[in-house]
Amino acid sequence: MGVFEESVATFLAPVKDLLSDESVTEVLVNGPAEIFIERKGLLERTSARFMDEQALQAAVRNIAQFVGRRIDEDNPTLDARLPDGSRIHAVFPPCSRRGTTLSIRKFGSSVPTFPDLIQRGSISKEAARFLDLCVYLGKNLIVSGGTGSGKTTLLNVLGSRIPKTQRLLVIEDASELKIQADHCVFFETKAADGAGKGAVTVRDLIKSALRLRPDRIIVGEVRGPEALDLITAMNTGHGGSMGTTHANSPYDALVRLETLSMMGDTNVPVMAIRRQIAAAINIVVQIKRMADGTRKITNISEIIPEVDEHGRYGLRDIYAYIQTGRTQEGKILGEHAALGVLPSFMDEIELNHLPFPRESFQIPEWARQRIEKKDNVA
Ligand SMILES: Nc1ncnc2c1ncn2[C@@H]1O[C@H](COP(=O)(O)OP(=O)(O)O)[C@@H](O)[C@H]1O
Ligand SMILES: [Mg+2]
Repeated sequence: MGVFEESVATFLAPVKDLLSDESVTEVLVNGPAEIFIERKGLLERTSARFMDEQALQAAVRNIAQFVGRRIDEDNPTLDARLPDGSRIHAVFPPCSRRGTTLSIRKFGSSVPTFPDLIQRGSISKEAARFLDLCVYLGKNLIVSGGTGSGKTTLLNVLGSRIPKTQRLLVIEDASELKIQADHCVFFETKAADGAGKGAVTVRDLIKSALRLRPDRIIVGEVRGPEALDLITAMNTGHGGSMGTTHANSPYDALVRLETLSMMGDTNVPVMAIRRQIAAAINIVVQIKRMADGTRKITNISEIIPEVDEHGRYGLRDIYAYIQTGRTQEGKILGEHAALGVLPSFMDEIELNHLPFPRESFQIPEWARQRIEKKDNVA
């Protein structure tokens, strides 16, 4: 163990066993005496506890110090990455009402691949092949989903499918991506020092990245005005760029990017931003944490490159997850299906002789019936 691991193990002694348990994916501390874990996507309460609030705060403060960040009364939140790649977020009282809240999202040691996602039922083989093709053709992609829905994991998978001859620039707030590539540069933001100086933002790093001859830019999480920079990069010759954002549907993801872009430049009229977003983003992949703890890609939507006269985006689902039922144990049953929509870049697929015939986008009969039935009910 290195100095850091030893210290963390000491500070986090009450949850040390949980952290080393392979089956635990997340440790959630709600004040010193209430600790939950996530296992196989589901939450469980544990009997672990910190001695008191002081001990918990001391642990968090020490971790912050080790990673060169700060948490105190003036900056009561901490976002940091541990050397093993685990990500922690903490909020101190009084913002957190019943004692310090801490979450530790453990970093799986192995990087998943499409076969892993297929095996977990998160995506079908066909839909995975389609995403692979989108990455190959340099489509601009946004992964959208809620917290813990599997966005970062999916971005890792997608990023690792980029042709190895290309140069990638990866930009993150608290670095957690492990993209498998031959030529990849990783950037991480820097918090301001005690005097409020020296902050380096995602925006700053995108600007630098653009001067470093990137083929593609990957932004771990778009949650601020950098949305505008990413959209601009996508529209100016950095096709195949990617990012994730927090939204509940593909349409909401576009609206969220729009809102964030407006923070970036308040002088650009909203219609202009919408046009840029519609032109920039080709595909939104929606991922969801289902009630049974599994993660599913629920929609793969293509964005029509123009907005209509009312400024509305045009989206078409190429694939969707169609739920067909639920077992008595609560397990969700369903399948992914193509919806009978040809991607607008079908000619590109054919010109490149990619083995993806038009027929594969046909909607299967069971899915058609299911959707019609639902439409009739609604
Ligand atoms: N397809 C998946 N199937 C099952 N578990 C997954 C899947 N993708 C991610 N997870 C797990 O869900 C948790 C959150 O994943 P992450 O990719 O960090 O989500 P997000 O970036 O949306 O917050 C992790 O513990 C991860 O191991
Ligand atoms: Mg994430």
